[in-house]
Amino acid sequence: MKKVLIVGSGGREHAIAWKLKQSKEPLELYCAPGNGGISELAACVDIAAADVAGMVGWAQENAMDLVFVAPDDPLALGMVDAMKRAGIRAFGPDKAAAEIESSKAYSKWLMKKYGIPTAAFEVFSDGQAALAYVEAAQMPVVVKADGLALGKGVLICDTAEQAKAAVTEIMIEKKFGEAGSRVVIEEFMTGPEVSVLAFCDGKTIRPMVSAQDHKRACDGDAGLNTGGMGTFSPTPKYTEEVRAFAEREIFEKTVDALREEGRPFSGVLFFGLMLTPEGPKVLEYNARLGDPECQSVFMLMENDLWDVINAVIDGRLHEIELRWKKGSAVCVVMASGGYPGSYEKGIAITGLDTVDGDVAIFHAGTKKENGRYYTNGGRVLGVTAMGETMEAAREKAYANVAKIKFEGAHYRTDIGIK
Ligand code: AMP
Ligand code: GLY
Repeated sequence: MKKVLIVGSGGREHAIAWKLKQSKEPLELYCAPGNGGISELAACVDIAAADVAGMVGWAQENAMDLVFVAPDDPLALGMVDAMKRAGIRAFGPDKAAAEIESSKAYSKWLMKKYGIPTAAFEVFSDGQAALAYVEAAQMPVVVKADGLALGKGVLICDTAEQAKAAVTEIMIEKKFGEAGSRVVIEEFMTGPEVSVLAFCDGKTIRPMVSAQDHKRACDGDAGLNTGGMGTFSPTPKYTEEVRAFAEREIFEKTVDALREEGRPFSGVLFFGLMLTPEGPKVLEYNARLGDPECQSVFMLMENDLWDVINAVIDGRLHEIELRWKKGSAVCVVMASGGYPGSYEKGIAITGLDTVDGDVAIFHAGTKKENGRYYTNGGRVLGVTAMGETMEAAREKAYANVAKIKFEGAHYRTDIGIK
């Protein structure tokens, strides 16, 4: 039996394990570090996701046939490169290709060079120059730390005062560490946001069904930014016209640009798009599956994931056509009380054994002890359901959310309402 190691510990990694378990190829799954829910499908190994040397060593000793590197940090640190050097098959972009996510300055430069639509921008590596620029710039502007900052390094500023404070926080006080040694200052855009994840083997790109994330903590997009409080797929905002434009002017051009630059992208490329009055533009790229986008997208995927990832690694993605279930999927995230601020851990979760058989509960932050589940993170569970319509999927998801209890549980009640 083939042995597969999944790197990571969230709802996305649980969804990857769940989807791989349905493969016709019998697979022995491992996950590092994993979580309570993942431990039902995979043997969890206590190695931190960003521990490149530890992960490679363990994968070698335990003769993994394939390592799926899911989160941004290990990709940015070159875990895929290190696996390949050690002779281990790995799914995910190498460090050079992953820079499309790990450096916003790089991604903006790439888009400008290849004429890929995105917000107008300037890059600064000198704090004083950035301060002088925002003094004279037209507001609002968006100030972004160049590097990975747990999704928190993006500040929308309505006034020059706010923009100066943002530059000071990022570049001078170094709130996000080295991620803030450069900033991107860009034009503020408006319009609905759509996420499209796509498999890519360096030459061919196969987009998955679209998804809509909900980043704010509370209903009606109020409250603080989070890692994502829920998703639905597909989103009606991603019309046929938008799709045709995005595939031609954004997806194909990005793949070609990276190949042209000698950084062919192999893995999943995530396009964060904004549908502006002037047409779709790129907000950001990620070099991986989105979390919780992956949960609703994989719920609809017909293909055998094992076949697809092997086609990506071997550069024969052109042989694969992606197939999708009809209908919609909705993923509702249940979070710890207080998230995204501080929250307690170790709270008992009940009702997990009462959910409908066709609903997937992807664990994001749980641990399992003596057969019981406890909260162990900010985002705790992603309750994911399918239906013939978005309405049906939504009703099913919320009917099952209601069966699961833990003290302080917090979730949005408007995921899947257009
Ligand atoms: P990013 O990490 O670059 O996707 O930014 C996080 C969020 O900030 C996005 O999902 C948008 O909601 C918002 N954002 C980023 N850039 C812009 C922009 N240029 N104009 C308006 N909103 C933006
Ligand atoms: N849900 C957005 C992300 O994974 O970055």
